[in-house]
Amino acid sequence: MEIIRARDYDHMSRQAANILSAQVILHPESVLGLATGSSPIGTYRQLIDWYKKGDVDFRRVRTVNLDEYVGLAADHEQSYAHFMRANFFDHVDIPAGNTHIPDGTNADAEHECARYDAVIRALGGVDLQLLGLGPNGHIGFNEPGDSFTKGTHKVLLAEATIRANKRFFKREEDVPRCAYTMGILDIMQAERVVMVVSGEGKADIVHRAFFGPVTPRVPASILQLHKNFTLVADEAALSKC
Ligand code: GLP
Repeated sequence: MEIIRARDYDHMSRQAANILSAQVILHPESVLGLATGSSPIGTYRQLIDWYKKGDVDFRRVRTVNLDEYVGLAADHEQSYAHFMRANFFDHVDIPAGNTHIPDGTNADAEHECARYDAVIRALGGVDLQLLGLGPNGHIGFNEPGDSFTKGTHKVLLAEATIRANKRFFKREEDVPRCAYTMGILDIMQAERVVMVVSGEGKADIVHRAFFGPVTPRVPASILQLHKNFTLVADEAALSKC
Protein backbone atom coordinates (compact mmCIF):
# COMPACT_ATOMS: atom_id res chain seq x y z
CA MET A 1 0.00 0.00 0.00
CA GLU A 2 1.29 3.39 -0.98
CA ILE A 3 0.07 6.69 0.49
CA ILE A 4 0.22 9.95 -1.44
CA ARG A 5 -0.17 12.89 0.96
CA ALA A 6 -1.93 15.80 -0.68
CA ARG A 7 -2.26 19.30 0.74
CA ASP A 8 -5.99 19.66 0.18
CA TYR A 9 -8.94 18.49 -1.96
CA ASP A 10 -7.69 20.14 -5.17
CA HIS A 11 -4.20 18.76 -4.80
CA MET A 12 -5.62 15.29 -4.03
CA SER A 13 -7.79 15.52 -7.16
CA ARG A 14 -4.85 16.47 -9.39
CA GLN A 15 -2.68 13.69 -8.00
CA ALA A 16 -5.40 11.09 -8.65
CA ALA A 17 -6.12 12.55 -12.10
CA ASN A 18 -2.41 12.26 -12.92
CA ILE A 19 -2.53 8.52 -12.17
CA LEU A 20 -5.72 8.01 -14.23
CA SER A 21 -4.47 10.03 -17.18
CA ALA A 22 -1.13 8.18 -17.18
CA GLN A 23 -3.07 4.92 -17.28
CA VAL A 24 -5.17 6.08 -20.26
CA ILE A 25 -2.22 7.60 -22.15
CA LEU A 26 -0.14 4.43 -21.74
CA HIS A 27 -3.08 2.06 -22.36
CA PRO A 28 -5.80 3.84 -24.38
CA GLU A 29 -8.13 0.81 -24.20
CA SER A 30 -8.01 0.61 -20.42
CA VAL A 31 -10.97 -0.59 -18.41
CA LEU A 32 -11.54 2.00 -15.69
CA GLY A 33 -13.63 1.18 -12.63
CA LEU A 34 -15.32 4.42 -11.64
CA ALA A 35 -16.85 5.78 -8.46
CA THR A 36 -19.41 8.37 -7.46
CA GLY A 37 -19.68 10.61 -4.38
CA SER A 38 -18.15 14.02 -3.71
CA SER A 39 -14.58 12.70 -3.39
CA PRO A 40 -13.90 11.86 -7.09
CA ILE A 41 -15.69 14.91 -8.56
CA GLY A 42 -12.47 16.99 -8.53
CA THR A 43 -10.58 14.16 -10.20
CA TYR A 44 -13.16 14.05 -13.01
CA ARG A 45 -13.03 17.86 -13.29
CA GLN A 46 -9.24 17.75 -13.74
CA LEU A 47 -9.47 14.98 -16.36
CA ILE A 48 -12.09 17.01 -18.28
CA ASP A 49 -9.76 20.02 -18.21
CA TRP A 50 -6.84 18.00 -19.61
CA TYR A 51 -9.17 16.44 -22.23
CA LYS A 52 -10.24 19.94 -23.35
CA LYS A 53 -6.59 20.95 -23.64
CA GLY A 54 -5.95 17.89 -25.85
CA ASP A 55 -3.65 16.18 -23.34
CA VAL A 56 -5.72 13.00 -22.91
CA ASP A 57 -8.67 11.40 -24.68
CA PHE A 58 -11.13 8.68 -23.73
CA ARG A 59 -12.23 7.41 -27.16
CA ARG A 60 -11.17 3.83 -26.55
CA VAL A 61 -11.56 3.64 -22.78
CA ARG A 62 -14.21 1.32 -21.31
CA THR A 63 -15.72 1.97 -17.89
CA VAL A 64 -17.58 -0.01 -15.25
CA ASN A 65 -19.12 1.86 -12.35
CA LEU A 66 -19.14 0.43 -8.87
CA ASP A 67 -22.78 0.76 -7.98
CA GLU A 68 -26.30 2.06 -8.54
CA TYR A 69 -29.36 2.62 -6.38
CA VAL A 70 -32.08 -0.03 -6.83
CA GLY A 71 -35.26 1.57 -8.17
CA LEU A 72 -33.69 4.64 -9.80
CA ALA A 73 -33.76 4.87 -13.60
CA ALA A 74 -30.72 6.19 -15.48
CA ASP A 75 -32.48 9.53 -16.05
CA HIS A 76 -33.31 10.05 -12.36
CA GLU A 77 -31.35 13.06 -11.07
CA GLN A 78 -29.91 11.13 -8.12
CA SER A 79 -29.04 7.99 -10.04
CA TYR A 80 -25.35 7.26 -10.40
CA ALA A 81 -25.87 6.95 -14.16
CA HIS A 82 -26.97 10.60 -14.14
CA PHE A 83 -24.08 11.56 -11.82
CA MET A 84 -21.54 10.04 -14.21
CA ARG A 85 -22.99 11.82 -17.25
CA ALA A 86 -23.17 15.17 -15.45
CA ASN A 87 -19.73 14.97 -13.85
CA PHE A 88 -17.69 13.17 -16.50
CA PHE A 89 -19.09 11.30 -19.49
CA ASP A 90 -20.94 14.24 -21.12
CA HIS A 91 -17.74 16.34 -21.07
CA VAL A 92 -15.30 13.91 -22.71
CA ASP A 93 -15.29 11.79 -25.86
CA ILE A 94 -16.05 8.39 -24.34
CA PRO A 95 -18.71 6.60 -26.45
CA ALA A 96 -21.86 5.94 -24.37
CA GLY A 97 -21.72 2.27 -25.38
CA ASN A 98 -18.34 1.94 -23.64
CA THR A 99 -19.76 2.87 -20.24
CA HIS A 100 -21.41 0.39 -17.90
CA ILE A 101 -23.42 0.90 -14.71
CA PRO A 102 -25.71 -1.59 -12.94
CA ASP A 103 -29.34 -1.18 -14.04
CA GLY A 104 -31.24 0.08 -11.00
CA THR A 105 -34.57 -0.57 -12.70
CA ASN A 106 -34.01 -4.31 -13.04
CA ALA A 107 -36.08 -5.71 -10.17
CA ASP A 108 -34.63 -9.18 -10.71
CA ALA A 109 -31.55 -8.82 -8.48
CA GLU A 110 -30.11 -12.23 -9.26
CA HIS A 111 -30.30 -11.58 -12.99
CA GLU A 112 -28.90 -8.04 -12.77
CA CYS A 113 -25.95 -9.03 -10.57
CA ALA A 114 -25.05 -12.00 -12.81
CA ARG A 115 -25.38 -9.77 -15.89
CA TYR A 116 -23.06 -7.12 -14.39
CA ASP A 117 -20.41 -9.63 -13.36
CA ALA A 118 -20.56 -11.03 -16.91
CA VAL A 119 -19.98 -7.49 -18.27
CA ILE A 120 -16.87 -7.11 -16.07
CA ARG A 121 -15.63 -10.55 -17.14
CA ALA A 122 -16.24 -9.84 -20.85
CA LEU A 123 -14.15 -6.66 -20.55
CA GLY A 124 -11.32 -8.76 -19.12
CA GLY A 125 -11.52 -7.23 -15.65
CA VAL A 126 -10.66 -3.77 -14.39
CA ASP A 127 -7.25 -2.19 -15.07
CA LEU A 128 -7.61 0.74 -12.69
CA GLN A 129 -10.32 1.05 -10.05
CA LEU A 130 -11.04 4.50 -8.59
CA LEU A 131 -12.67 4.47 -5.13
CA GLY A 132 -14.03 6.82 -2.50
CA LEU A 133 -14.43 5.84 1.15
CA GLY A 134 -17.82 5.71 2.84
CA PRO A 135 -18.10 7.22 6.33
CA ASN A 136 -18.49 3.70 7.78
CA GLY A 137 -15.63 2.27 5.71
CA HIS A 138 -17.72 1.04 2.80
CA ILE A 139 -16.30 0.80 -0.72
CA GLY A 140 -18.78 0.94 -3.55
CA PHE A 141 -21.79 -0.02 -1.47
CA ASN A 142 -20.08 -2.93 0.30
CA GLU A 143 -21.35 -2.19 3.77
CA PRO A 144 -19.79 -3.41 7.06
CA GLY A 145 -20.85 -6.96 7.91
CA ASP A 146 -19.73 -10.38 9.12
CA SER A 147 -18.08 -11.37 5.84
CA PHE A 148 -16.89 -9.97 2.52
CA THR A 149 -19.21 -10.50 -0.47
CA LYS A 150 -17.33 -11.49 -3.61
CA GLY A 151 -19.34 -10.58 -6.68
CA THR A 152 -21.96 -8.00 -7.65
CA HIS A 153 -24.84 -8.18 -5.18
CA LYS A 154 -27.86 -6.33 -3.86
CA VAL A 155 -27.31 -4.61 -0.51
CA LEU A 156 -29.53 -3.08 2.10
CA LEU A 157 -27.87 0.27 2.76
CA ALA A 158 -26.58 0.93 6.29
CA GLU A 159 -28.30 3.64 8.34
CA ALA A 160 -25.00 5.62 8.32
CA THR A 161 -24.97 5.54 4.51
CA ILE A 162 -28.59 6.67 4.23
CA ARG A 163 -27.83 9.54 6.65
CA ALA A 164 -24.68 10.53 4.73
CA ASN A 165 -26.37 10.40 1.32
CA LYS A 166 -29.62 12.14 2.29
CA ARG A 167 -27.95 15.49 1.52
CA PHE A 168 -28.47 14.73 -2.17
CA PHE A 169 -32.21 14.06 -1.83
CA LYS A 170 -35.11 16.34 -0.86
CA ARG A 171 -36.09 14.13 2.09
CA GLU A 172 -34.45 11.25 3.95
CA GLU A 173 -37.41 9.03 2.92
CA ASP A 174 -36.44 9.57 -0.72
CA VAL A 175 -33.02 7.88 -0.30
CA PRO A 176 -33.32 4.38 -1.80
CA ARG A 177 -32.85 1.63 0.79
CA CYS A 178 -31.07 -0.79 -1.54
CA ALA A 179 -28.33 -0.72 -4.13
CA TYR A 180 -26.50 -3.00 -6.54
CA THR A 181 -22.76 -2.96 -5.99
CA MET A 182 -19.69 -4.63 -7.36
CA GLY A 183 -18.34 -7.06 -4.78
CA ILE A 184 -15.07 -7.12 -2.88
CA LEU A 185 -13.53 -9.73 -5.18
CA ASP A 186 -14.43 -7.62 -8.25
CA ILE A 187 -12.59 -4.70 -6.62
CA MET A 188 -9.64 -6.76 -5.37
CA GLN A 189 -9.11 -8.25 -8.83
CA ALA A 190 -8.46 -4.82 -10.37
CA GLU A 191 -4.83 -4.50 -11.48
CA ARG A 192 -4.50 -1.20 -9.67
CA VAL A 193 -6.71 0.54 -7.09
CA VAL A 194 -6.63 4.26 -6.32
CA MET A 195 -8.71 5.73 -3.49
CA VAL A 196 -9.35 9.45 -2.99
CA VAL A 197 -10.18 10.67 0.52
CA SER A 198 -10.46 14.22 1.77
CA GLY A 199 -11.37 16.09 4.93
CA GLU A 200 -11.21 15.77 8.68
CA GLY A 201 -14.57 14.00 8.76
CA LYS A 202 -12.87 10.93 7.23
CA ALA A 203 -9.80 10.97 9.52
CA ASP A 204 -11.13 8.33 11.96
CA ILE A 205 -12.27 5.91 9.28
CA VAL A 206 -9.01 6.31 7.30
CA HIS A 207 -7.12 5.36 10.46
CA ARG A 208 -9.36 2.34 11.13
CA ALA A 209 -9.31 1.16 7.52
CA PHE A 210 -5.61 1.41 6.80
CA PHE A 211 -3.86 1.32 10.17
CA GLY A 212 -6.08 -1.26 11.89
CA PRO A 213 -6.89 -4.94 11.33
CA VAL A 214 -8.31 -6.25 8.05
CA THR A 215 -11.95 -6.95 8.85
CA PRO A 216 -15.32 -7.04 7.04
CA ARG A 217 -16.51 -4.64 9.77
CA VAL A 218 -14.45 -2.02 7.86
CA PRO A 219 -14.73 -3.20 4.24
CA ALA A 220 -12.02 -0.84 2.90
CA SER A 221 -9.46 -2.50 5.22
CA ILE A 222 -9.18 -5.40 2.73
CA LEU A 223 -7.32 -3.02 0.41
CA GLN A 224 -4.31 -3.36 2.72
CA LEU A 225 -3.93 -6.77 1.03
CA HIS A 226 -4.15 -5.46 -2.55
CA LYS A 227 -0.94 -5.79 -4.56
CA ASN A 228 -1.15 -2.30 -6.08
CA PHE A 229 -3.20 0.01 -3.89
CA THR A 230 -2.60 3.77 -3.66
CA LEU A 231 -4.37 5.95 -1.13
CA VAL A 232 -4.44 9.58 -2.24
CA ALA A 233 -5.55 11.53 0.81
CA ASP A 234 -5.23 15.10 1.99
CA GLU A 235 -3.62 16.16 5.23
CA ALA A 236 -6.95 16.54 7.01
CA ALA A 237 -7.99 12.96 6.16
CA LEU A 238 -4.58 11.69 7.33
CA SER A 239 -4.53 13.79 10.49
CA LYS A 240 -5.14 10.78 12.80
CA CYS A 241 -2.62 8.46 11.16
C1 GLP B 1 -21.41 6.59 -1.72
C2 GLP B 1 -20.80 5.73 -2.83
C3 GLP B 1 -19.38 5.35 -2.52
C4 GLP B 1 -18.61 6.58 -2.08
C5 GLP B 1 -19.20 7.10 -0.80
C6 GLP B 1 -18.45 8.27 -0.20
O1 GLP B 1 -22.04 5.89 -0.73
N1 GLP B 1 -21.55 4.53 -3.08
O2 GLP B 1 -18.79 4.76 -3.68
O3 GLP B 1 -17.24 6.26 -1.89
O4 GLP B 1 -20.52 7.50 -1.09
O5 GLP B 1 -18.93 9.47 -0.71
P1 GLP B 1 -18.23 10.87 -0.54
O6 GLP B 1 -17.06 10.84 -1.46
O7 GLP B 1 -19.27 11.85 -0.99
O8 GLP B 1 -17.85 11.01 0.89
